[in-house]
Amino acid sequence: MPDVLLLPGDGIGAEIVPEAVKALKAVGKRYQIRFRFREALIGGAAYDACGHPLPEETLRLCEESDAILLGAIGGPKWDNLPVELRPEMGALLPLRKKLGLYANIRPALLFPALIEASPLKPEIVSGMDLVVVRELTGGLYFGTKKREFVDNGDEQAIDTLVYRTGEIERIGRLAFQMARKRRKKVTSVDKANVLESSRLWRDVITGLGREYPDVQLEHMYVDNCSMQLVRRPTQFDVIVTENTFGDILTDEASILTGSIGMLASASIGGKVALYEPAHGSAPDIAGQQKANPLATILSAALMLRLSFGMEEGAQAIEAAVRQVLDEGYRTADIMQPGKRQVTTAAMGDLVADRILA
Ligand code: NAD
Ligand code: IPM
Ligand code: MN
Repeated sequence: MPDVLLLPGDGIGAEIVPEAVKALKAVGKRYQIRFRFREALIGGAAYDACGHPLPEETLRLCEESDAILLGAIGGPKWDNLPVELRPEMGALLPLRKKLGLYANIRPALLFPALIEASPLKPEIVSGMDLVVVRELTGGLYFGTKKREFVDNGDEQAIDTLVYRTGEIERIGRLAFQMARKRRKKVTSVDKANVLESSRLWRDVITGLGREYPDVQLEHMYVDNCSMQLVRRPTQFDVIVTENTFGDILTDEASILTGSIGMLASASIGGKVALYEPAHGSAPDIAGQQKANPLATILSAALMLRLSFGMEEGAQAIEAAVRQVLDEGYRTADIMQPGKRQVTTAAMGDLVADRILA
């Protein structure tokens, strides 16, 4: 019985996670799998309830589970807490680090029904199907952080960007292996014209590339990549990059698919994987049943594929999402003239229903 830990978190997290659970339950019913769902507090919700954004009990439940589904954390209410108590720095980053989740897989796939929802021209975005492999436990996020006063009375802040060969190698291998199962192209994104860490990154990835002669490897500077994504997104298959660049490029890639509410993700590499939409807690629309639950539902599909080896179940969710979009149902973020606008919960019901149809 697969044991799934639910961490709804903050803002729209409480609205989108139940919709992904509906999809998992529908898959369970269709393929006779009994999931066990448990729930725990994380982020601002955990801070409010027990004074810490990542309670020990939550961490223990995470470690005991077979997979974790996270909604989102953070929001203005907790932005002024001491840094170690903020949902981002006190919960999400330590959770990723403690679980050893060094790889964040973010597929940016354009569903054909959403071609008009993309800000790009149809002929440019049509056929877009790329995946960003983002390094998740290194770089600026986990470097030394310091604030101090210097001689002239100025305050200075320091964030260090550190990468070791081993960290680059393991994420690089994952990217090459993924490319082998796709269109056999890896674009490694860095800023090697400026950053020492990027020059090491490029050396290591170049060396690895020799072990994967069947995969085409190209290197691209991050500034160019952000432009190329908008110019011709179909040139990309697998993009591999460090933590901060991956964070930024995936928000950019997300909107090309119609909405950040479409971008699923899997954080893997440790014993237990964490599935989380790429977006945040969207405080501006929280509690209004406006959020798009599809990124979370598609993250549940990734869970079935990557944690449980249930390819059929994963495909059943993905096919149901495609069908509901083909039928014209839309949440507000992807709404277009002539389509039918539905709430967060209605979208979840529709997907679950099509999984069982
Ligand atoms: P955000 O992703 O929460 O929102 C950006 C914009 O996208 C907003 O206009 C929002 O309404 C919209 N949006 C996001 N998800 C949507 C969805 N599913 N459906 C429809 N619209 C959606 O980013 P932000 O506003 O910069 O951050 C808000 C909070 O979330 C911050 O505290 C931030 O630190 C946190 N955050 C958390 C995560 C996470 O938990 N993994 C990720 C990103 C940001
Ligand atoms: C994401 C988020 C997080 C990140 C924040 C909330 C720490 O933006 O998952 O993309 O930057 O990794
Ligand atoms: Mn982000």
